[in-house]
Amino acid sequence: MPTIYDVARHAGVSAATVSRVLNGRATVDAALVERVRAAVDELGYRRNSLARNLRRSSTTLWAVIISDVENPFFTSLVRGIEDVAQEAGYSVVLCNSDENLDKEAAYITAVLGEQVAGVIISPASETATDVTDLLKGGTPVVAVDRRPRARGIDTVLVDNVQGAYEATAHLLEQGYERVACLTGPEGATTADQRLEGYCNALRSHGYEYSPSLVCRADFRERGGFEATLSLLDGDPCPDGLFVANNLMTVGALEALAQRRLSTPQDLGLVCFDEIPWADLIRPSLTTVAQPAYEIGRRAGELLARRIADPTRPAGALMLSTELKARESSSRP
Ligand code: RIB
Repeated sequence: MPTIYDVARHAGVSAATVSRVLNGRATVDAALVERVRAAVDELGYRRNSLARNLRRSSTTLWAVIISDVENPFFTSLVRGIEDVAQEAGYSVVLCNSDENLDKEAAYITAVLGEQVAGVIISPASETATDVTDLLKGGTPVVAVDRRPRARGIDTVLVDNVQGAYEATAHLLEQGYERVACLTGPEGATTADQRLEGYCNALRSHGYEYSPSLVCRADFRERGGFEATLSLLDGDPCPDGLFVANNLMTVGALEALAQRRLSTPQDLGLVCFDEIPWADLIRPSLTTVAQPAYEIGRRAGELLARRIADPTRPAGALMLSTELKARESSSRP
């Protein structure tokens, strides 16, 4: 029985392209559509929807596609998912998209081929991540941490805008006057919403937005290091810094150390994400804690309910963050 991968090889395209052609997606080049259809006819490929539905109904696998397997936030989030999965009689297969859209699309295609019982995904991009083929194929999908392009699916987010607002307002109210923002890549919900919260705080406290005080990086340590050096070389030089995630904050601390700058004296610092060692370092680090484990649990519960009742209305949960003010932002 030829598979979707046999058709892809025969047509000289990816399995994702075959899937898009079979689902009637308009985004495929006409020549490729013809090649896929010819391969389908020549191989006698038939989508076995009955077997697929039987397999999905019998499969006990959940696929979890996260943005960065090396980020402790996602480790806690996946733990929350897995605990719910185990309680509900499912196992978890973990996929790391690495904040990379091609890798994310390849995992979505692979998951399509495996007919898992459901998918939980942290989309790399709110505008580009495409879960249409999963939804068209009847696979339940829940989005966590960031929104996908597809609307009307279960989502579990935190109030990124409010969390970033509180972080920035805290620095301004401590007396820091040139507060910078280091956020993640454009298109990631968390990056854009945290920048929005930063801008809202500037405005409500009577400060102008200054492009030289805003920088984007890749949500990772090296990107945080280089972006912080760039901000420190900017004009005006910041006296406060709100960093939109844990790994970039590590990079920012490395950059401050290299420039022999101290917190809170030379620069007030706040990190979005709780960090286990935030209380142990000196000065202790001010954070905006997000409930990673709880986000995972809530997403798992939504997926279990979706599998049990595919027709239920989509849930959109927004959990709160908590500003934990410590020494790094307490202006002397
Ligand atoms: O460090 C993890 C957090 O930063 C998550 O919210 C992720 O989306 C990134 O924004």
